[in-house]
Amino acid sequence: AAENGIDAWLRYATLPCDVRKAASVPAQIVALNGTETSPVYTAGQELHKGIRGILHKDLPVTNTPANGSSITIGTVDAFAKTSGALPELDLKGDGFWLSIKNDSVQIVGQNERGALYGTFQYLSMLAQGNFTEVAYVSNPSAPIRWVNQWDNMDDTGTHGSIERGYAGPSIFFAKGLIVEDLTRVSQYARLMASIGLNGIVVNNVNANVNLLNSTNMAGLGRIADAMRPWGVRMGISLNFDSPRTLGKLTTADPLDQSVIDWWDDIATKLHDHVPDFAGVLVKANSESQPGPLTYNRTLADGANLFARAIKPHGDAIVMFRAFVYDNKINQTNWKADRANAAVDFFRDLDGKFDDNVIVQIKYGPIDFQVREPVSPLFAHLEQTGTVIELQVTQEYLGQQCHLVYLPPLWKTILNFDMKVDNQPSLVRDIVSGERFNQKLAGYAAVVNVGTNTSWLGSHLAMSNFYAYGRLAWEPTSDDVAILEDWTRLTFGSDRTIIDTITKMSMESWPAHENYTGNLGIQSLTDITGPHYGPKPQSQDGNGWGQWTRADAKSIGMDRTVWNGTGYSGQYPSEVAAMFEDIETTPDDLLLWFHHVPYTQKLKSGKTVIQHFYDAHYDGAAVAQTFPKQWEAVKGLIDAERYDEVAFRLEYQAGHALVWRDAINDFYFNMSSIKDEQGRVGNH
Ligand code: GCU
Repeated sequence: AAENGIDAWLRYATLPCDVRKAASVPAQIVALNGTETSPVYTAGQELHKGIRGILHKDLPVTNTPANGSSITIGTVDAFAKTSGALPELDLKGDGFWLSIKNDSVQIVGQNERGALYGTFQYLSMLAQGNFTEVAYVSNPSAPIRWVNQWDNMDDTGTHGSIERGYAGPSIFFAKGLIVEDLTRVSQYARLMASIGLNGIVVNNVNANVNLLNSTNMAGLGRIADAMRPWGVRMGISLNFDSPRTLGKLTTADPLDQSVIDWWDDIATKLHDHVPDFAGVLVKANSESQPGPLTYNRTLADGANLFARAIKPHGDAIVMFRAFVYDNKINQTNWKADRANAAVDFFRDLDGKFDDNVIVQIKYGPIDFQVREPVSPLFAHLEQTGTVIELQVTQEYLGQQCHLVYLPPLWKTILNFDMKVDNQPSLVRDIVSGERFNQKLAGYAAVVNVGTNTSWLGSHLAMSNFYAYGRLAWEPTSDDVAILEDWTRLTFGSDRTIIDTITKMSMESWPAHENYTGNLGIQSLTDITGPHYGPKPQSQDGNGWGQWTRADAKSIGMDRTVWNGTGYSGQYPSEVAAMFEDIETTPDDLLLWFHHVPYTQKLKSGKTVIQHFYDAHYDGAAVAQTFPKQWEAVKGLIDAERYDEVAFRLEYQAGHALVWRDAINDFYFNMSSIKDEQGRVGNH
């Protein structure tokens, strides 16, 4: 059958007859403690739907404990009240226990959400034809596992656009309002729940104040209602200046009483419409956004203003973004460096934030580049919860027109050891809250799905969304194993399909790095325009600070302490020493930390410039193989998705050549150094 992608990895496609015969599931579904809007009720319905699809069995669903063979879903408390003794379970918030035996399946959540997650786990096994008996506890690595949407309200247009969204307009907003039909919103929440995501910020970080008018407050209530049955809580981005622009006050000073009162009132109204309001995301004093610094107040003053306004109403949180920097810095100053900004701004604020504030930090110090070192800020906030911000939407990485499977990039970041106080300090243990003993910590990813029925505009890009949830739940999960699960659920279990998608996906990030920007020079894309396609000349000569400092002889940012911007000194001592010294800096970050001649030798023995030439040829050559590799699955998956993927891979193969030649020609013209293999400049 044709597949348009709306169910993504939740298709519940019927298993082949022989596999189905081997399956045994209990005779009925019992969903304890379920009112119609509760996640346990949802779990019962979803399980019924899934088993009907996968196994062609129509199991009755009840909410009262039953005798005989059954699948029972509920919270620990509900089990205790109705179904008798359970083993001692070490469940954390949102965690679940899954026990599968022939005639009895128990899915026990620490809370209702956990029960739903356990149900999705069971369904994932069934859908993959996995009928093994298991009994285990699964807990999420961190309490915060959120999605950020950068959706605009577009006062004048017909549909909300999405900043850095590549799959059509917003599923949330149209004509300055919340859309009437929220079907896609609940479908989105279903996908989120199936991978353990529990919160979402629905509007752009560059926030429109009109979201807070009374009509839209009611609309927000409807969005929250649509997502609640899936255990997904809703939050919003705030514009710091709202008291002035919407409230008509004369100031937005966070210490001014009228401003405090204004936000208190907003928080009360939000809570009235959304009783389980998740929290606010704040981008302040960044890229021309207003903020507390405008009023000579600290960023902590700004964050605490919101923290205090929402505090009386429950457990909502403030996610205060660390993406604060000056976008008008001067390149003639050798020591100027945008990468220094986050630590410079936040280091001294540790301990000054209220306990419901979390600092949300992009994985690297610049901006979602193809290769960045870990943001050093993760090492500096010991008394403040932190969240790592990842990006599923491929803003700098081909905007979903290129296949780039991102988990290998994310895991490089998450597995990095910051060695704070010379103790093991993996980033994943910092953002789980473990390393510094934080209650609030976790993950956020900019996802930016749109109305396109494939959600992200590309079927293969959905593996990134799926993997994001899986890694936020368990960051040590294997990236190939995640991909294989996703592939079986999305396209089927044929070995050729799995092998083809795995090979292409695992080759894709290294290839992309090779044909775009390597050795830590960043994504050499058009940074003053749409962040798409090659434009190495756009990096330098402007205030954005994504500089390469390339000239006729040399290239790279000197970020050393002894001679450069001092950035390497922002890391804990062992890591700082590694990056300070060119000998111990890994090749893939060489030009991030050091300014060197094009003839500088790498550890591989090649010069920097020859590496550029070769890597661009190698990366583009890999992309050339993708359309051919994909042909192997022709006929094994439906024609609609086959063709849509084939079209994009063909495009990527061509665009990789454009990238290769644009970058190689640029540096050949700049350096006048010939390619040893005689390819560059000759086409
Ligand atoms: C990037 C992106 C912007 C976005 C900003 C942010 O710079 O290009 O569109 O607003 O990040 O994360 O705030």
